[in-house]
Amino acid sequence: MARPERDPYVAGVLLSIDRLAAAAQRALDLAWAKAGATAPNPPVGCVLLDGAGEILAEAAHQQAGGAHAEAAAIALCRTAGSLNLARAAVVTLEPCSHVGRTPPCADALLATGIELIIIGAPDPHPRAPGRGFEILEGAGRRVLSFWDLDHTQAQRLARSAARLIEPFACAVRRGRPFVTLKTALTTKGSMIPPFAQKTFTSETSLAHAHALRRRADAILTGSGCILADDPAFTVRRVPDHPGKRRILAILDRRRRVPDAYFASARARGLEPRRYEGLEAALEDLGAAGALEVLVEAGPTLRHAVLKSGLWDEEVIFQQATSPGAADETRIVRRDGAAPFVDFTHYTLELA
Ligand SMILES: NC(=O)c1ccc[n+]([C@@H]2O[C@H](COP(=O)([O-])OP(=O)(O)OC[C@H]3O[C@@H](n4cnc5c(N)ncnc54)[C@H](OP(=O)(O)O)[C@@H]3O)[C@@H](O)[C@H]2O)c1
Repeated sequence: MARPERDPYVAGVLLSIDRLAAAAQRALDLAWAKAGATAPNPPVGCVLLDGAGEILAEAAHQQAGGAHAEAAAIALCRTAGSLNLARAAVVTLEPCSHVGRTPPCADALLATGIELIIIGAPDPHPRAPGRGFEILEGAGRRVLSFWDLDHTQAQRLARSAARLIEPFACAVRRGRPFVTLKTALTTKGSMIPPFAQKTFTSETSLAHAHALRRRADAILTGSGCILADDPAFTVRRVPDHPGKRRILAILDRRRRVPDAYFASARARGLEPRRYEGLEAALEDLGAAGALEVLVEAGPTLRHAVLKSGLWDEEVIFQQATSPGAADETRIVRRDGAAPFVDFTHYTLELA
């Protein structure tokens, strides 16, 4: 027997919980696909529904300076001539209430007939906590969070929305980017590649490593890694975000990295910068708007980063012990929370 449609949330709007949950998933998928493309802004996705729960428009924030997800979805709906039909908006992040490079999204929603707004995560920015909720509710709109959905997937959807903006939350609350270490270990647990090799993990691990790089706004490395491997630090095994430019932060107190390496990095589209210390580097990267930093360094700098406490997550690719077997991937969080990295999202991004 088909599951009955549960009560609509808003008088006159016939929306089933299943449709709202599906729209939440779609908004998350759209946003995850842009993770790494939007700094210093967070990735956001938005889906607009009519009174029967049909999708009218969907959009994600593409990059800083571009339209926010809600404004983009509203514009699409308007262009299609269906904005008058829009009754609900499902958005992965609380709509902004401040005037930035673009007008506030809370106001843009209020200018429509949308009666129900369902939000994935509260805005973590300390400048106006809960203000988007207040503005919308104050104007008589019904506002719910993903947690409020009476659906088996509600918690998973809400957690995904929170995870999506974790680098942004880290940047605005702690004043430094979210720091991920990427570490490859041989079967014997060494980071040093076998003679005359630069890599030793499987094709899948290498693709995952490039997916991590794709999302990073900056790569942080040490002089030892550069002198040993002359690494390109470009995104090659997966498609990159179009036009994305990354900072390459090089810790090099003794200035051993030659000018020629800086020139070649620039020629590859990177922005190399030399630093004397980890804290100074992270401070500068944060000031430059980086949300995510990927540490790709040898054992000396890896150890220093782990000891400093200035990191959030480590992704360890452990080489398989027998040929043909899969590498083991371990994800370690400094704070013991659920891992941020989830390679299913990368699969989605790259689909
Ligand atoms: N398996 C992996 O995941 C992986 C990844 C990358 C590289 N590697 C391998 O690692 C090897 C190189 O190892 P490595 O340890 O020499 O390279 P590294 O950790 O990348 O670089 C070490 C250098 O970074 C500089 N540095 C600047 N600030 C530092 C700080 N606060 N703490 C520590 N170091 C700082 C130091 O030079 P100054 O004193 O001049 O500043 C130090 O000698 C190569 O064989 C490479 O293939 C492996």
